[in-house]
Amino acid sequence: MLPTASTIDGTAFPASNPAAHRLHLAPNLAPNLALCENADALTAIREPAVTMALWRRNLPADLADALEDWPGKDWTNLRLTTTPDSVQTDATATGPLLPDIAALVRLYADVVGCPSVTLRLERVTGNGCKFLHVDYVGVRLLCTYRGPGTQWAPDDAVRRDGLGTGNNAAVLPDARRLRRMSVGDVGLLKGESWPGNRGRGLVHRSPPARPGVARLVLCLDHDTH
Ligand SMILES: [Fe+2]
Repeated sequence: MLPTASTIDGTAFPASNPAAHRLHLAPNLAPNLALCENADALTAIREPAVTMALWRRNLPADLADALEDWPGKDWTNLRLTTTPDSVQTDATATGPLLPDIAALVRLYADVVGCPSVTLRLERVTGNGCKFLHVDYVGVRLLCTYRGPGTQWAPDDAVRRDGLGTGNNAAVLPDARRLRRMSVGDVGLLKGESWPGNRGRGLVHRSPPARPGVARLVLCLDHDTH
């Protein structure tokens, strides 16, 4: 059972409203996409047909302002294992992002049903995973705090026999179908290792690098669920 949004560590998540706990399956965008109106609706990722649950949100203005100067040049990428109850002390290195990240850790653990969470916060300056691919994980949470967001492809637009060839056009013949997350968006991406999802992992990639733009990306994974 998810806590009401207003109790998630006091962050700026929208107030819980039963009438607003709707999700929109979005067949015009992608048959496998659930567009979520709020944090609670991300539980849609549990639906077998859904491999991408996307909550579009704007970062609070004060957080966006804080990220203009953070992290500094000396900051190093962060990787740790934590729990919803210990993240406030485990992840102090996330600086001004700590309240938001702590809330997302709790949200993620509730949705997936996992006791602990592997957290990565990385500054990305290169192309990352530039080829369209699937992840061999259960459900992964991604949130980009700065720079262009993760790109993904609707199920009905991909040719899975092109995966692993290093040829994006073989996976996605119509590049116009490529979708992209925006800064602040919270995406739950279902991978190949989620029970019953073999052969249906969400196809995605890192966005192409832009000169002088360092992305800041949060990634949450689970060991069990
Ligand atoms: Fe990936």
